[in-house]
Order: sequence, then structure tokens, then C-alpha cells
Amino acid sequence: MNNTIRILEKEFVTFISYIEIEKVVDRLACQLNNDFRNDEVLFIGILNGSFMFIADLFKRLNIKCRITFLKLASYLGTESTGKVQTLIGINEDIRGKIVVVIEDIVDSGVTLEKIIEQLVPYEPAMIKIVTLLLKPGAYKKKIKLDYVGMEIPDNFIVGYGLDYDGFGRNYEDIYVVKQ
Ligand code: IMP
Ligand code: MG
Repeated sequence: MNNTIRILEKEFVTFISYIEIEKVVDRLACQLNNDFRNDEVLFIGILNGSFMFIADLFKRLNIKCRITFLKLASYLGTESTGKVQTLIGINEDIRGKIVVVIEDIVDSGVTLEKIIEQLVPYEPAMIKIVTLLLKPGAYKKKIKLDYVGMEIPDNFIVGYGLDYDGFGRNYEDIYVVKQ
């Protein structure tokens, strides 16, 4: 079923249904539950875009784990500005801890690089990355993405927490901008 929505002046069309998203989240949770079954993990959710993914993923974890949040912003409208601002920083002791970063989407990788730069000085035992979505055509960094839910083309999307100028986060499906 192809549904069209309008956000500000742009039209978007259904791209990934919530049913598909749930299957992907199930798979990622299974992998994490298996890989960290004997460990204690500190998850770091990256706000705002990841909030729905974080909630869905976290409910499915059965390992010993905690969660904290980091808030960053790099996008202005539909373009990555390349400059990443930290809006809420880390105030958790992560030294010697197994840290797993939860991202909604990795595009150029600039945000992810900035996140890693902020965490490394605190000397965690390891940093793993889980991202629901990856745009391989846009990703320019060398940082290994340990858990990738889905690879998508380099088009602007909204829904399931992802926004266009702050709007569109409320939809449970993911929509892609109409060309
Ligand atoms: P990057 O720094 O270019 O990798 O961009 C990553 C961040 O930009 C993500 O955490 C998202 O919050 C946001 N972002 C990237 N692509 C999209 C998109 O297609 N729609 C909405 N937000 C996006
Ligand atoms: Mg984000």
C-alpha cells in the first residue's frame, strides 16, 4: 500500500513499513542478545532521531544492560551541514565499560565520527555501533558499523523518529521524499 504524506512543502511516499522495520529490529536484538549474552552493556542512544528505534530495540534485549543518551544535531532541512553540535553530553562513567551506540541512520558518517571522538577519551573497553539504516552511497568514513539493520539508497527519508525540519517523526512507517 503506497501512502503519500505532505510535510511542510515536500511530498513523501511509503518506503519501509513498520512490519518490515519490526523484522529488522528483531534480527538486530537477536544478534546483540547473542553476542553480549555474558556481558554487561551500556547502550548510548543518539537523540533525537533514534528514539523510536531505541525503544523498540531495548524492549527486545534480555542481556544485562543499561542505557543513557547523547543528543547531537547535524541536519538542517534535508541536508547534512557537516557540522555536528552536541546538545546533551555524556555524564555516565564509561571507563572500562562495553559501550554500544544506537543510531537511527548513518549517512555521511560525520555524526558517528563525532560521537566516537567524544567517547574515546573516557576509555571504554570497547565501542560497538548499531544503526537501523545505512546509506552506503553517502558513507565516507572508515569506522566499522558492527550491526546494520538495512542499507538504503541515498535519498531523504522521514518517519519512525526521523524528521524533516523537526516534523514527520511521528509516523510509524518510513517514507521517502518524492523526486
Ligand atoms: P551523517 O552525520 O551525515 O551521517 O548524518 C547522520 C544523522 O543525520 C542521523 O543521525 C540522522 O539524525 C540524520 N539523517 C541522516 N539522513 C537522514 C534522512 O534521510 N532523514 C532524516 N534524517 C537523516
Ligand atoms: Mg540521528
